[in-house]
Amino acid sequence: METSRNKKKKSKSKFKSHKLLGSIHELLSWPIAILCLTYSNKVHPDYGMTWGKRMLLGFRFRRNFKKVRTGTSWRAHLVMAMKLLEMSPQIKGSVVECGCWKGGATVNLSLICALTGRTLKVYDSFEGLPEPTEGDPVAARAFKDGFIPGVFGGTLDEVRKNVSRYGAIDACQFYKGWFSETLPHHEGDIVLAFWDVDFHSSLHDCLQNLWPSIVDTGLVFLDDYLDLDYCAVFYSEKYWSKYFKSAPPGLIGAGTGIQVGMFYTDPSLRIGHKRIHGAESITYCIKGTRAIWEFYPDENHASPGS
Ligand SMILES: C[S@@+](CC[C@H](N)C(=O)[O-])C[C@H]1O[C@@H](n2cnc3c(N)ncnc32)[C@H](O)[C@@H]1O
Repeated sequence: METSRNKKKKSKSKFKSHKLLGSIHELLSWPIAILCLTYSNKVHPDYGMTWGKRMLLGFRFRRNFKKVRTGTSWRAHLVMAMKLLEMSPQIKGSVVECGCWKGGATVNLSLICALTGRTLKVYDSFEGLPEPTEGDPVAARAFKDGFIPGVFGGTLDEVRKNVSRYGAIDACQFYKGWFSETLPHHEGDIVLAFWDVDFHSSLHDCLQNLWPSIVDTGLVFLDDYLDLDYCAVFYSEKYWSKYFKSAPPGLIGAGTGIQVGMFYTDPSLRIGHKRIHGAESITYCIKGTRAIWEFYPDENHASPGS
């Protein structure tokens, strides 16, 4: 019979090989990822983004990713940056980040905001996640896993310091407090939003208070793309008809994220194969898109030609 010591040894060496393979993949893939993620013929000419400048931007994002602790990947940050570069400067509006933790994504978003002449408005409690709300499925899971209030807490001072050191602090405005208190006072159009807020209740706060300010064809990015029950709100006909009298907008990349040069096939691989099947992507919706099922043949009373 296999002893527990042997089992531990085996799983340790398996982890080491996953880690090694993951590191090799990252080493070989990151330059190609930067090249491919910044490959776009839609970048607005006003920004003067030559190939060299795009590569440098990607390189800087990746370097910052290693300097500031973040729950999201430099690849995801680069996707958002490229979408901002593709947007015409004629479309006015700010970029809004809800949920910044230590400012890992804030640093990179601030750089692209400075480059495109936009303001980055950052909303956070700056004291971590709130007390979970009853009926919130993520909160229930968090409690089961031993949720500690204040988890994902970064202070405003910490975030400011990180952005001053690695990003563009002048492009930023910070709003401290619970979303339910700060977001109702948001002013001005939004061209791109990034909501990495974990709880359903926090996502609801973002949607309720900020969706009306997102410009037509504006973009909303989310981090929690692996959780289908979370993404589901962007497909919920009930939610969008109840609160916005519109069709749901859908989500590009729900479940697996959009393609950023990583491998990801299945949420059960999250633990064992973490280094290889890395969840380093992001998902987004485009305001104005309709993700609604409208084909109900048994309800069609008038047939073509009748
Ligand atoms: C997972 S962390 C964000 C990680 C960050 N986007 C990054 O890339 O490193 C979640 C953040 O959401 C914030 N947050 C969640 N719900 C909130 C609420 N209702 N009000 C204020 N802040 C909230 C937490 O304070 C925390 O900073």
